[in-house]
Amino acid sequence: MELAVLDATLLYPPTPRKVNAMTIPRDGLAVLGPALAFALLMSDYVSNSQAQIKPEAFHRTIDGSQVDVYMLKNANGLEATITNYGGIVVSLMVPDKNGKPGDVVLGYDTLNDYIGSTPYFGCLVGRYGNRIAKGRFTIDGVVYQLAQNNLGNALHGGLKGFDKVVWQAEKVDGSDGPALKLTYTSKDGEEDYPGTLRCTVTYTLTNKNELKIEYAAETDKPTFVNLTHHSYFNLKDGGASDILGHELVIKASRFTPVDKGLIPTGELRSVAGTPFDFNKPTAIGVRLASEDEQMQFGTGYDHNWVLDRQGKDLELVASVYEPTSGRFMEVLTTEPGLQFYCGNFLNGTNKGKGGTVYQHRTGLCLETQHFPDSPNHPDFPSTELKPGEKYTQTTVYRFSAK
Ligand code: BGC
Repeated sequence: MELAVLDATLLYPPTPRKVNAMTIPRDGLAVLGPALAFALLMSDYVSNSQAQIKPEAFHRTIDGSQVDVYMLKNANGLEATITNYGGIVVSLMVPDKNGKPGDVVLGYDTLNDYIGSTPYFGCLVGRYGNRIAKGRFTIDGVVYQLAQNNLGNALHGGLKGFDKVVWQAEKVDGSDGPALKLTYTSKDGEEDYPGTLRCTVTYTLTNKNELKIEYAAETDKPTFVNLTHHSYFNLKDGGASDILGHELVIKASRFTPVDKGLIPTGELRSVAGTPFDFNKPTAIGVRLASEDEQMQFGTGYDHNWVLDRQGKDLELVASVYEPTSGRFMEVLTTEPGLQFYCGNFLNGTNKGKGGTVYQHRTGLCLETQHFPDSPNHPDFPSTELKPGEKYTQTTVYRFSAK
């Protein structure tokens, strides 16, 4: 029997694309170096226990563009499966404290499920991640009206945001790990936003066990941009049980309180003495029953934190530790804000991977971004992008176990 070893490459789409593949007789293992033997054993181990993502369940043409699912595998055996429909991270296999890999994100087994109905599982969000009040903003004296798809406000880019479009996918040999480069050009007027927006998002599964997401965009007319990523994480069991015991840290002394429609009031409020203080590791569930009005408005945590940053470079801003699995995730970003959403609207209606039904609060999102409704709050860090400028944002989800 022969075993193919792919060193940190894309394993599918189904069009055969084996890069740097070596074919080695299995009984030749004894004469291999220990490192290579370990890699071989790991590759067997990982694929035996991976989420059952079938490439054919994602292979389809939409509006003339090919959709597929791509697998990134780093040098340590971590695996990410990503589709170019919505740039969705379908699965992310990460070892627990015993070295046993498990899927840490919620999602579906098939493209059809994602097309059918999804609470933004694992996708890229744009042009404007989060809410814009009344779906309205003004640029250079012109009022733009977007679709009001969330209680009279605009949410996550509109009726057909970046989570529902087909991105062009290209495999990239990143120096720090296997990568998938996605590009999408949003036409002038698409979802009623001004300007042609050329976007690139590169997912890299680095050999330091990070899922790195690098965003870039350029426009030909002034517009607003706020791109983010919407994975629902559950470090314990990928969504089979709730996330209430996950211990969260957010390095932020303030947050942006909201009204009943989850639109920021404009205030930057201190977290001191409130359930929003996550400066010390705190289990998510402990203060959820708080009578704080903000917790009522959010029906739990669904707020933007104003990150305490040192500068504008990539910085550690948050972490999550799950005690039973020992999995630990750190979040680094260049962004000024972090939307922490604890899956309040999950209610058992989404039947996900392997038949898992996602009940209330079985996943948590840590969406690095600019603040919600920034176009209508001149005091917030600006989300306006002008011709000749380059929008960039980088976010890293770094995994380990302890
Ligand atoms: C928002 C939530 C919303 C969720 C899924 C999050 O980014 O903050 O209010 O329900 O996305 O749609």
